[in-house]
Amino acid sequence: MDRNMPTNALEHSTIPTLKWVDEADGHLVLVDQTLLPGELRWLECRDVATVREAICVLRVRGAPAIGIAAAYGVCLGLQGYHAHDDEQFFSRLEQVIEDLGSSRPTAVNLSWALARMRRRALELRGGSSLREIREALLAEARAIHEEDRRMCRQIGAHGAALLADGQGVLTHCNAGGLATADYGTALALFFAAQEAGKRLHVYVDETRPLLQGARLTAWELCQRGIDATLICDSMAAQVMREGRVQAVVTGADRIAANGDTANKIGTYGVAVLAAAHDIPFYVAAPTSTFDLSIPDGDHIPIEQRDPREVTHGFGRATAPEGIKVYNPAFDVTPARLIKAIICEHGVIEPVTAERIAREVGGRK
Ligand code: MRU
Repeated sequence: MDRNMPTNALEHSTIPTLKWVDEADGHLVLVDQTLLPGELRWLECRDVATVREAICVLRVRGAPAIGIAAAYGVCLGLQGYHAHDDEQFFSRLEQVIEDLGSSRPTAVNLSWALARMRRRALELRGGSSLREIREALLAEARAIHEEDRRMCRQIGAHGAALLADGQGVLTHCNAGGLATADYGTALALFFAAQEAGKRLHVYVDETRPLLQGARLTAWELCQRGIDATLICDSMAAQVMREGRVQAVVTGADRIAANGDTANKIGTYGVAVLAAAHDIPFYVAAPTSTFDLSIPDGDHIPIEQRDPREVTHGFGRATAPEGIKVYNPAFDVTPARLIKAIICEHGVIEPVTAERIAREVGGRK
């Protein structure tokens, strides 16, 4: 266990997923999520390559969290870089943005955060010193971080009202505090419901192949004392058929203009099952996860990951050598299967292009 960690951190209900230490010459610290739940270790990121690697191998993961990490990554990429002039500085900025932006393709929060960082720098170009631009960029990264924290609380407050005391709910992957600045999106509904005195029973899909549900969501729910049961992904149909689940809530990685939603592989299947059992399927996501530049889910890039995640999960061969593997990390749930999307502004229902444009259209 890391020495910097408070000794009782495992009992803390909120553990900061990411934090920036010190001022402009500081560094990023994040929880290495690949080690959970066995070990809670902080990773110090002092250069952009470390941030990029952390995003690629899912040490930091979840759409909002990778956006925040990338924003701080831009600051690290400019730290200690001695540009002769404005042009060299901005060309370095573009290189850093490109480097971070190519780390993972599906979650739009990543490119959204990087675009915000670029925009802020360009606003100041010409009228400010390079030091001032660096400081403004750190302030922008901090703002992205802080806004996400606030949005998650708002999502929790809006969404908890949709859940009733005593209900069984199911979630897939991890859309909790670890995937965001704090508190989460899908899990925020459960946390806020609990804070309002409602007792929920949460079924947690383990989420093959990387087990974000088993390793991370189950861990977060246990931390908060929420009644939770882990199931294999293939058990969701039976659990629904037995009447154990009255609502499904997941997060999102990218929501197209018509409401089609990319999320962790397996989410689409859960939505189909929910529809077959007449169970409402909710998506919880901040407006930074919407991509109004694409009309529908067919335009969402789906990340393909290493076949070894499927054949060698956690160090042991579970398939014959040489077998062909298909390993898309995300799938797209069509809007028609989504009862409502909960964002920081409220509940978007029905999920239509018109409603989404009205709620999300004017965002930063
Ligand atoms: O591959 P991951 O673990 O980054 O995938 C994460 C998810 O699919 C989450 O559900 C999504 O990013 C929402 S997190 C608030």
